[in-house]
Amino acid sequence: MTTSFSKKKTKLYKNELFSLAKLVFLIPITIIILLLIFLWSSSSTIISGNIIHLCFQSRKLNDLYCISAGTHQNLEAPSSFSSNVTTSATKIVDDLQQKSTRLGIPIPPGYHAFRNGMVKSDEELLVAYNDVEDQLEMHRSWTSTSQNHNATLCNGRGIYVYELPTKFNKDLVSQCADMVPWVDLCDYFSNDAMGEAVQKLGKGWYQTHQYSLELIFHSRVMNHPCRVQNISEAELFYVPFYAGLDVLRWHFKNVTNDVKDSLGLELVKWLESQPTWFKRSAITCELHAGKDHIFVLGKISWDFRRYSNSNWGSRFLELNEMQNPVKLLIERQPWHLNDIGIPHPTFFHPQSDNDITTWQLKLLNESRKSLISFAGAARPDAPESIRSMLINQCTSTSECKFMNCSSGSCDQPESIIELFIESEFCLQPPGDSPTRKSVFDSLISGCIPVIFDPFTAYYQYPWHLPEDYKKYSVFIDQEDVRNMKVNVVDRLMKIPAGEKQNMRKYIIYELLPGLVYGDPKSKLEKFQDAFSITMNNLFERLTRLEL
Ligand SMILES: *[C@@H]1O[C@H](CO)[C@@H](O)[C@H](O)[C@H]1NC(C)=O
Ligand SMILES: *[C@@H]1O[C@H](CO)[C@@H](O)[C@H](O)[C@H]1NC(C)=O
Ligand SMILES: *[C@@H]1O[C@H](CO)[C@@H](O)[C@H](O)[C@H]1NC(C)=O
Ligand SMILES: *[C@@H]1O[C@H](CO)[C@@H](O)[C@H](O)[C@H]1NC(C)=O
Ligand SMILES: *[C@@H]1O[C@H](CO)[C@@H](O)[C@H](O)[C@H]1NC(C)=O
Ligand SMILES: *[C@@H]1O[C@H](CO)[C@@H](O)[C@H](O)[C@H]1NC(C)=O
Repeated sequence: MTTSFSKKKTKLYKNELFSLAKLVFLIPITIIILLLIFLWSSSSTIISGNIIHLCFQSRKLNDLYCISAGTHQNLEAPSSFSSNVTTSATKIVDDLQQKSTRLGIPIPPGYHAFRNGMVKSDEELLVAYNDVEDQLEMHRSWTSTSQNHNATLCNGRGIYVYELPTKFNKDLVSQCADMVPWVDLCDYFSNDAMGEAVQKLGKGWYQTHQYSLELIFHSRVMNHPCRVQNISEAELFYVPFYAGLDVLRWHFKNVTNDVKDSLGLELVKWLESQPTWFKRSAITCELHAGKDHIFVLGKISWDFRRYSNSNWGSRFLELNEMQNPVKLLIERQPWHLNDIGIPHPTFFHPQSDNDITTWQLKLLNESRKSLISFAGAARPDAPESIRSMLINQCTSTSECKFMNCSSGSCDQPESIIELFIESEFCLQPPGDSPTRKSVFDSLISGCIPVIFDPFTAYYQYPWHLPEDYKKYSVFIDQEDVRNMKVNVVDRLMKIPAGEKQNMRKYIIYELLPGLVYGDPKSKLEKFQDAFSITMNNLFERLTRLEL
């Protein structure tokens, strides 16, 4: 009698500790929310003509992150802002907040980093950047040290993959021929979505499409050692909704916004009919519904956060129900904690440890004939883009090789990869959005990326790239390029050989294996690829958050 009583007491005490731990976790979240509210009430917004720019500054990078809307016909700013507004920034942001949801930030193709003539050095801008950095710090705190390769290490924690009605995934894939007007995606989705093999580059190389991540990740998770068939044994729930393909198929078609949003809404309804969606809420409260659910989205976050008065993309990630789940994306929305950046898929999908080592040895053996290369296209419609300046600097010296993507020469994986493995530095200016798949192509070719905007990589991939970006990249502020304060070629020529060597070795040995998504049939033992790093950290997050 006494024994059982004291046992009960211990259990109660444990439960109290448990809730306390949860409370402690809630505090930083609350702070972040308060910061966001503060930011909203005070960040700098510049309105020039029909264009809105929202800008934020970093304490570490001394740079501004700006997001602009209105340069594209489809991205007209809300009409009340189109006139000569001279009201204070606070008032404008207040108005803006009412016109849009959360950080209702506009999206490509009108998106670009922009800084000229900006009101700057406001404390609020610092808050915004600090907030991004705090979030990344939290993401990094979920980094697992385990080498989870087999089921014995799952520790009883399973991941369940929902079997969704086919309209949410397979049926979207079968629209491949008609998804975008200028290319048939069907070949790209063959071979477990790796695409057709590229013999010329060797074993494990494929013509992979940049928007294939949803399919690739899905195949991988089906074979994960911690996957369980019995839903009541699961701690994590994977929702294989191909939301990226869903928005992609509407991008270039004249349909209403309701049409673009409809499948996402159906998916949310479907989830809410699943008792597992509310599993966490049953123990605690409604607030936690979906916290243990995982989505992988193969397009950038902005494509799912349609700005009011725009018609680009869907509002899927703005739905209330979508706030709790983890969204793994090739480009995160920097002010959403549950948006976590994971690498863009590259052309390399090794099957074995040996495929990786063979490639590493090949890279180390390369003579790197060019100092610099740039594969890209100019952005004539975006005058503030630094791309044209970089192309000019590049084409005026023999040290730099320019591959003109406007003329179609970048379509073949082998041309890009062969250029990059022969170069020491690869220029990676932002394109339509800050991140670039090309950063990953460059890293897996052993070419040191030159980054011009912190949101291109440093503020995106906390699980796959280290905080100390100097280990693997060179940062040149795009504003210095724009103001002609720096010649990129001259700057890079001054970097000592030893420094280049160290960066390259770090990239090839330490980073490369963790940046590629292995073949779904792969058996990696020595190395952890981008997929297994992600999975281990998702489990670690559960532990840390005591979910
Ligand atoms: C905006 O203000 C400028 C200067 O104050 C003025 O020259 C211009 O005509 C105004 N434009 C509109 C649309 O009111
Ligand atoms: C799983 O991993 C552990 C530790 O690395 C190892 O000892 C064990 O043999 C592995 N089991 C299987 C079935 O591969
Ligand atoms: C699923 O797991 C639960 C809890 O472990 C168990 O009670 C149930 O019998 C299992 N169902 C099946 C079909 O194996
Ligand atoms: C799009 O569809 C609407 C309604 O059917 C039509 O009025 C409009 O002209 C179309 N726009 C274009 C660019 O085709
Ligand atoms: C390294 O390069 C040399 C010549 O450049 C070549 O003979 C050798 O086979 C290469 N080794 C590997 C492992 O690729
Ligand atoms: C790149 O190709 C496009 C289209 O062929 C052409 O208009 C442009 O001038 C080229 N750019 C350079 C720098 O050669």
